[in-house]
Amino acid sequence: MFFSRNSDRIIYIMQIGNLKLENRLIMAPMAGITNMPFRIIMRGMGASLAFTEMVSAMGLTLKAKKTWQYLKSGSNDMPLAVQIFGSRPDVIASAAGMAAQTGADIIDINMGCPVKKVTKTGAGASLLKDFKRVEKIVSSVRVACHVPLSVKIRAGWSPEKPVACEIARVIEDCGADALTVHPRFATQGYSDKADWALIGKVKARVKIPVIGNGDILGPWDALNMIRQTGCDGVMIGRAAVRNPWIFRNILRLEKGLPVREPELPELRSLIIEHYNLLSDSANEYRAALRMRGHLLHYTKGLPHSSRFREKFTKIQDFKTLMEVVDRYFTVLEEKRS
Ligand SMILES: Cc1cc2nc3c(=O)[nH]c(=O)nc-3n(C[C@H](O)[C@H](O)[C@H](O)COP(=O)(O)O)c2cc1C
Repeated sequence: MFFSRNSDRIIYIMQIGNLKLENRLIMAPMAGITNMPFRIIMRGMGASLAFTEMVSAMGLTLKAKKTWQYLKSGSNDMPLAVQIFGSRPDVIASAAGMAAQTGADIIDINMGCPVKKVTKTGAGASLLKDFKRVEKIVSSVRVACHVPLSVKIRAGWSPEKPVACEIARVIEDCGADALTVHPRFATQGYSDKADWALIGKVKARVKIPVIGNGDILGPWDALNMIRQTGCDGVMIGRAAVRNPWIFRNILRLEKGLPVREPELPELRSLIIEHYNLLSDSANEYRAALRMRGHLLHYTKGLPHSSRFREKFTKIQDFKTLMEVVDRYFTVLEEKRS
């Protein structure tokens, strides 16, 4: 990490391999969520790096059409980290090479997914039980592609075997350029609290940048995580899905400005922007399904939102969905004015 001076404040800039990032705020990879439209929204809010959802290495090498769709990106969706999961070093290396050729700015290897469908194949967090395989995977990918390489890990498979610090060293020695630590064990899923102290321990063991992840629920948490652990960057998942303004608000806090939550017209504009991006990139039915999911988050806590949700959960076409949104916001804004 290096610093630049802007008036009397220090602005931190992150670097992963040769890739320089404008800030240290990163949108997490999230299956079923972090597609191109969503990533563009997060970038607009201030995330300097965004990830695809985890993409099957086998699917890429077998040229499966559905798998390749996860790599869909564009010039307003950069820099992009493509996250790959798999268990075979040769297959992951070959998939990484392909993804790098299609324009990925970073290749990330998933060593944290606790979902059974993934771990039973030896991929995701189950790799944390097999150091030799981790060594082979990271070294093979390092040889196969020349873009920066990162790895996302958990604390270990189970509390009986906390391996993060040890495996971090292995990953660094094999040539990775950065490491993301989500300090929960795979067996914990998303329960209990993320153990931020572990991020600090990993940071003390390696020289490559460490990105801290887990339980950043609001803008202050991001600054607290950096302060408490010394991590170089922060990765935010669920809180950004609920409230994309989290990135903007962290940047405001860094500049000494207070947190500012969006007014209704700003939220409405964001929903329309998301709608436009989705309608450009998916068929109407899929776009409506996606948008319904995001609307649940975007409207949580707003007046009469449960009645509004009841209405839109049955709608299957995109245009009608957005008409209902429009009516809802018009009524809300009239009541507020
Ligand atoms: C719905 C969902 C999908 C996720 N998909 C992925 C994924 O594809 N790859 C990955 O490495 N982590 C995935 N994660 C984990 C997140 O990237 C992140 O590590 C986790 O949510 C903790 O961060 P948070 O507390 O900021 O949400 C997923 C999490 C959720 C809730």
